[in-house]
Amino acid sequence: MVQTRALRAALGERSATGLVRAPGRVNLVGDHTDYNEGFVLPLAVDRECVVGWRPRDDGRVVVHALDLDDSATVAADGRDDPGAVEPPWARLVAGVVRALRERGRPPVGLEAALTSSVPPGSGLSSSAALEVALALAATDAAAGFALDRLELARACRDAEQQATGVPCGPMDQLASLFGRRDHALLIDCRSLAIDTVALPEKIAVLVVHSGIARAIAHSAYAERRTACEAAAVQLGKPALRDAGAGEVADDPRARHVVSENQRVIDAVAAIRAGDLDALGALLLASHASLRDDFEVSTPELDLLVDLLMEEGAIGARLTGAGFGGCVVALVRRNRADHLAGRAVRRYRAATGIEPTAFVARAVDGAGAVAAEVT
Ligand code: GLA
Repeated sequence: MVQTRALRAALGERSATGLVRAPGRVNLVGDHTDYNEGFVLPLAVDRECVVGWRPRDDGRVVVHALDLDDSATVAADGRDDPGAVEPPWARLVAGVVRALRERGRPPVGLEAALTSSVPPGSGLSSSAALEVALALAATDAAAGFALDRLELARACRDAEQQATGVPCGPMDQLASLFGRRDHALLIDCRSLAIDTVALPEKIAVLVVHSGIARAIAHSAYAERRTACEAAAVQLGKPALRDAGAGEVADDPRARHVVSENQRVIDAVAAIRAGDLDALGALLLASHASLRDDFEVSTPELDLLVDLLMEEGAIGARLTGAGFGGCVVALVRRNRADHLAGRAVRRYRAATGIEPTAFVARAVDGAGAVAAEVT
């Protein structure tokens, strides 16, 4: 594998002690529900961050980002402020180191090289993939230190929040750690219970990037979360998870969250019953709710959804935080390439923007790269 050779080379003459991978994710339905302690239905996808590592005995964590041709160093004892480290990509490194230190990791140094096929700024959780891969490497490097996967997910979520200042929920890190091949994950973001949902074989998950990076995502995301929390307080509920549709009928933000939670539950039932029409309708309703009630869509995402539907998708919606990034569509597998090609051409002609499309395969969650330890 060229990729693993490059990782080894970056670590110098000594070969890597360990090699770990962590996937990005695409969310089928259930957006802006995770931080309201609701439900989500993501799958880990075959785009991943791979980290090769070996120990260092000087208490430093040195990371080489091969795709950026850049390196950064943080102290293994977590003293570097994740919000302030330079260059900015290394804030995620400092965040992971600090979050693990807070959970008892000894300040053992490591040298790591990483490369990722998760497109950044696309809403496919490139940062969660990096955090999880690095956290696994840092855990393996500290003899006698271990965390269960739920705690690892919480640590990586904390790292993301501290590094980016975005008050995200737990979905992305859980999806990266708990993904299962050919399955989506029904996650209860209150109990963190995870149920696997087999994806129908004849259906492909098509991801199309609008070509627009998520510009105002940070501030708008925080504003949406604050609005949701305020709505829960107003209703005297612990979280919007506990509100009923009748209680939020006049509040579009809360209405989105409550209706979206129900759509996740209904989508799982539709998948299990093989009812693709119902599933498609739920995806479209989710997009409409994110566009009209939660107001996180863009004209480009709306256009992509329309074009994909016109070309024969079963359902389509924006995926992730919104404000740019990707849409996800469910399409009949034997028509996926044809349909994607037509939608991409029409989008390009209408906007002058170059979108990228790929069929995502659901993969297992993060772990060691098999047969690569030398
Ligand atoms: C981002 C966050 C997640 C989640 C989604 C929206 O991906 O990191 O926690 O809130 O947005 O569903």
